[in-house]
Amino acid sequence: MDNRPIGVFDSGLGGLTVLKEIRNLLPTESIVYFGDSGRAPYGTKSKETVIKYTFQNIRFLLNQDIKMIVIACNTASACSIDLVKHSFDIPVVEVVEPGSVSAVRETVNKKVGVIGTIATVNSGVYEKAISRLDPSIEIFQKACPMFVPLVEEGWWENDIAQRIAEEYLLSLKEKGIDSLVLGCTHYPLLHNTISKVMGEGVKLVSSALEVAKVVKEVINENNAARNEKIGPVYRFYTSDSVEKFESLGNSILNEKIRSAEKIDIERY
Ligand code: DGL
Repeated sequence: MDNRPIGVFDSGLGGLTVLKEIRNLLPTESIVYFGDSGRAPYGTKSKETVIKYTFQNIRFLLNQDIKMIVIACNTASACSIDLVKHSFDIPVVEVVEPGSVSAVRETVNKKVGVIGTIATVNSGVYEKAISRLDPSIEIFQKACPMFVPLVEEGWWENDIAQRIAEEYLLSLKEKGIDSLVLGCTHYPLLHNTISKVMGEGVKLVSSALEVAKVVKEVINENNAARNEKIGPVYRFYTSDSVEKFESLGNSILNEKIRSAEKIDIERY
């Protein structure tokens, strides 16, 4: 039994799509979330910068006395997982491997598309992970750097989002893929827009549910489930405007986020 919260972070709001699935699957667990919106996007930054941010975010969460770290950000996972995985004495869960497992399970024609930030696509982590699971799968990648700012702005389904999605995705559609990995935790919020461009024949694969399953497994393996009579506590922190975090966060989680707090992440 371990009553400490799970620590989750992302470059901004996207990781809330992962938090939502963790909460659905593990409704008794407490969670501390940090969204680094003040320094987003990560995906256009250098690997060194993303590694620095990742360690700062983890140090902040460790200060909150957490029992597990969930890197709910593909870019941070892609740039730093080898360094981070064994640097702490609590478990670290990332998002790339679970997303790859879903893609391999979903594809029938063995043509898979992967979209993500520039840093994630350039790192080649999805290609490596998917090929390791099934070497016969053909992978087509595309970086979509404008998607994260669109999501952080709350422009999930308007004409501009639609136009940008067409620009990025029509060339992928022509490859005949039957599954598209949303290799960035912000992208599930563009699900309807992306789906309109890709059409019904292409399944959109998000890692969020798969990540939640891994979190559950790790908790069970470590005998670390929360066991308290009173309900779980969710705490939210951001490095940018609390008002913006709360208003977009409410739409993502479909409920009111109470008392998000702004922190100075550079202190960590
Ligand atoms: N949600 C992050 C990811 O999964 C977005 C990265 C960014 O801030 O560019 O990659």
